[in-house]
Amino acid sequence: MTGNLLELSGIHASYGRAEVLHGISLSMKAGSIVTVIGANGAGKTTLLNAVMGIMPARGTILYDGVPVPHSVEARVAAGLCLVPEKRELFASMSVEDNIELGGFLRSASERAETREELYARFPRLAERRRQLAGTLSGGERQMLALARALMSRPRLLLLDEPSLGLASKIVTDILDIVSELRKTGVSILLVEQNARAALEIADEGYLIELGEVRRSGPAAELAADPALMESYLGTHS
Ligand SMILES: Nc1ncnc2c1ncn2[C@@H]1O[C@H](COP(=O)(O)OP(=O)(O)O)[C@@H](O)[C@H]1O
Ligand SMILES: [Mg+2]
Repeated sequence: MTGNLLELSGIHASYGRAEVLHGISLSMKAGSIVTVIGANGAGKTTLLNAVMGIMPARGTILYDGVPVPHSVEARVAAGLCLVPEKRELFASMSVEDNIELGGFLRSASERAETREELYARFPRLAERRRQLAGTLSGGERQMLALARALMSRPRLLLLDEPSLGLASKIVTDILDIVSELRKTGVSILLVEQNARAALEIADEGYLIELGEVRRSGPAAELAADPALMESYLGTHS
């Protein structure tokens, strides 16, 4: 036992014959935020999908010290939850109904309790609970995607570019919310192109480039390395 909530070793993944992850290793402690940063096309989404079980992968994924269950459904039941890059909300359903869908494995009374907690955390969603999801702003949509994920009471939240497409002020709001979530005990694997913002709220960071880990370490250390920030992530710093 290593005491890590998640431990990836030698993860390889391919689309057809093209391998795009070439042996990624990563570990995260329970209760921490770990960010995976890297340019567009580096393999970040593929890595999250491999952890969720949506993408077949070779290598070892230990969750709580034991091999993660095989199917996506079993991973959800074990407390993993992915918020995909495209959010995948139901535009013609209300905010509240979208949130309810996140709790499909839980009882009505558990859902009701979590719903009230979520509305306290996201007052903007509470005000808009009857509004159709398709009419929300970009930031509100991302809040809704997070709320729906939290409805399942995950232990490990996998977030794929929560700041994508949002105005910079909203990016800060969303990442502040992500940072607050850690206090509820959920562990967060945060994928971001927006490296500087992600490293600010993370405990550990991994820089991936072309499907390989190039650098890893305490987030503050990576953020303080000007060569790294410029050479790999110049336009996003
Ligand atoms: N469905 C797919 N079929 C073929 N290649 C893909 C597919 N999805 C992603 N790729 C390729 O895999 C690599 C990694 O992509 P991705 O994981 O989406 O990167 P990131 O999320 O870091 O932008 C890229 O070269 C991308 O073109
Ligand atoms: Mg991606």
